[in-house]
Parts: sequence; C-alpha cells; structure tokens
Amino acid sequence: MSSSSASDVRVREATLADSDVLAELIALFNGPSVRPERTLERMTACAGLERALLAEVDGLVVGFACVGVVPALADDHPHASLTELYVRPDWRRRGVGRQLVKSAEAYAETAAAEHLVLLTGLGNDEAQAFYRALGYDGWAVAMRKRVSP
Ligand SMILES: CC(C)(COP(=O)(O)OP(=O)(O)OC[C@H]1O[C@@H](n2cnc3c(N)ncnc32)[C@H](O)[C@@H]1OP(=O)(O)O)[C@@H](O)C(=O)NCCC(=O)NCCS
Repeated sequence: MSSSSASDVRVREATLADSDVLAELIALFNGPSVRPERTLERMTACAGLERALLAEVDGLVVGFACVGVVPALADDHPHASLTELYVRPDWRRRGVGRQLVKSAEAYAETAAAEHLVLLTGLGNDEAQAFYRALGYDGWAVAMRKRVSP
C-alpha cells in the first residue's frame, strides 16, 4: 500500500477513454455485471446529464463519483445529485472520498444548483458517518416501488 496522502489526489472528469476503469470500479461497487462496452454506452447516453469524476494518485484511479444535474420544472435551480461514490478499500481514510465529494459540490455549484442531494443505504453506517462528517444531514425519506416486472 502506498503512503500517498490526500494532497496527492487529483480529481478529473472521466472521458469515454476511461470506460474500462470506470466499468471496473462500478463492478467493484455494484457487482460484477458491468461490461466496459455497456459503460461506454451509458456514458454516451448520460452526456450533459450525469458525469463521472475520477480520483487519481500517480496515474492510478483510486475512486470515482457520479454527479447528475438536471433542470427542474418547478424550480429555478437545477437538481443536483451525487449518484455514486466509491473508493478502493486500500485507499480509504486518506481523504479521497472527501476530495471526490468536494469536486462534485463544485460542479453542482457551477451548474447553479442550490443543494447536492444523495441517497445512501439505511444500513450503510460507514457511508452515513462519512457524509455527516462532510456536513450532510437527513432531509427526506426515500421511498420506492417497482414499476416494471
Ligand atoms: C464512504 C467512502 C466513499 C469514504 O471514502 P474515504 O476516502 O475513505 O473517506 P475520507 O478518507 O475522505 O473520509 C473523510 C471523513 O469521513 C469520515 N469517515 C470516512 N469513513 C468513515 C468510516 N468508515 N466510519 C466513520 N467515519 C468515516 C471521517 O470523519 C473521515 O475523516 P478522518 O479520516 O480524518 O477521520 C468509502 O468508505 C467507500 O467507498 N465505501 C464503500 C462504498 C460506499 O458505501 N459508498 C457510499 C454509497 S452512497
């Protein structure tokens, strides 16, 4: 494990050329079902709506975040959401997640959003502690219902 610290972390927007590493990280986070070609298709479909941010240390991608911004019919401000956040296990507790969220917040602010909203698992105590440490707080109840078989 490297001794690199948060100050060595660089966050940049992913491009289509990053689809392989993004697919790898999404699979590590969400399960092994994401093909790189499918990730490339999704990146193209999401252009202008949702972007991936990559955290790099010495050229190694150590984590990613996805942030979406969409215009709102009933609000002058667009709605911004942090839709994914993942840091490779070996790189946790070194400020990488914080840097990714900071970059997502900067993007949301640039896009004139008022808030950055996120969902995290009810049982994901570590992520909840992380978000609270960064100033996030409970604000709504998330509900869902399956609408397709
Ligand atoms: C949540 C996650 C992104 C945090 O990334 P990270 O790079 O380890 O976070 P940071 O090092 O930037 O932590 C910033 C602060 O958050 C808090 N924090 C981070 N991880 C924590 C944990 N496991 N328990 C309690 N507090 C934690 C601490 O206050 C920390 O500051 P400190 O290390 O100086 O004490 C990472 O643990 C992860 O990828 N988890 C698995 C994926 C996941 O659950 N994602 C969120 C889904 S919505």
